[in-house]
Amino acid sequence: MFESIPLAPPDSILGLMEVFDKDPRPEKINLTVGVFKDEQGRTPILESVKLAEQKILATQKTKSYLPIEGGADFTQAVVKLVFGDAIDESRVAAAHTPGGTGALRASADTIARHFPHARVWVSKPTWANHVAVFEAAGLQTEAYAYLNASKTGLDFEGMMSDLRQRGSAGDFVCLHACCHNPTGIDPAPDQWEAISALLAEKKMIPLLDFAYQGFGDGLFEDAQALRTLMKDHAELIVCSSFSKNFGLYSERVGALLMVCKDAATEPAVLSQIRTSIRCNYSNPPRHGEAIVATILGDPELTALWKNEVDAMRARISSMRHMFIEGMSRLGRDFSFLQSQKGMFSYTGLNPMQADWLKSERAIYIVGTGRINVAGITSTNVDRLCRAIDEACGTV
Ligand code: LMR
Repeated sequence: MFESIPLAPPDSILGLMEVFDKDPRPEKINLTVGVFKDEQGRTPILESVKLAEQKILATQKTKSYLPIEGGADFTQAVVKLVFGDAIDESRVAAAHTPGGTGALRASADTIARHFPHARVWVSKPTWANHVAVFEAAGLQTEAYAYLNASKTGLDFEGMMSDLRQRGSAGDFVCLHACCHNPTGIDPAPDQWEAISALLAEKKMIPLLDFAYQGFGDGLFEDAQALRTLMKDHAELIVCSSFSKNFGLYSERVGALLMVCKDAATEPAVLSQIRTSIRCNYSNPPRHGEAIVATILGDPELTALWKNEVDAMRARISSMRHMFIEGMSRLGRDFSFLQSQKGMFSYTGLNPMQADWLKSERAIYIVGTGRINVAGITSTNVDRLCRAIDEACGTV
């Protein structure tokens, strides 16, 4: 029977990473998948993570199963990290999930079981996997406008008008809490206020993908949109990832946080999240969770980790400036990237130019024109700028 199964298309992000790995050209540059790179082009293990692992190795007593929703030390620390003092934690049904993707899927399964007619609104464009995850859970997705026609900023009017005119009560709206993936374009604070008010008026529920906390303006600052939404919304969902800010990509650690209107509602909601998890991957992996819980549970490690997050953010921001300056020396205006936040930027390059960069210059960017700014180094930036200049001129 299996010979009737057709070949699936390669993943638009991870598929490119695989092609990159096999490319023999030594000068190749990878600006595809969202992983942090240091000035040497490596994705290092954070010092705080190394120290936490040593502590775990010395003290861990068992590898037995964790509770379905993960350990309480982890979930409590994560609720604090994400919400700060802005919430009574007994209102949050919290679970450890394998990465932010695991959180999205566990939330989607839970929504689909109880609100099968709810639609999930995603930005146009959004992370390449969002629609697949929501639809795999059986939910219908709809797109709201996000990027303006010149691909340089937010189409705020279009976004508001789509949600106002086409959204229905009980629909979920997937918003990127900070560092929008793929565009790097976030709403301004007053725009967040307006979005929050509109969703409240329409009785639509915010579902925040929070994969880049700390990569925009800071760990606390990046939760501002969430705090804004919480003023108007007694119920919302946060899908957090610790892949990027702890550098724990392959450990798969994230969290699903469903905020309930009161503490009395939380046990039932948590029980349903547990049901979603149990029939999917049963219970979470221990190691990544232990690292995050150990760091957040130890003031010295937390301080070290916060410094490391600050340093990652500063490096990305300096690479963004260096790229803009490099393009400007070649007479090309990429200054619109200045206000973009986080790991990604939308360059405005088209799929043909992206293909040309790959085949002619061994430079890999996502076909949509998204680049991972963290993949730029002071060694590769000049070559990158020259190649993009050529691509813009010839393709
Ligand atoms: C990305 O967008 O590159 C990351 O979120 C990695 C992924 O899984 O796609």
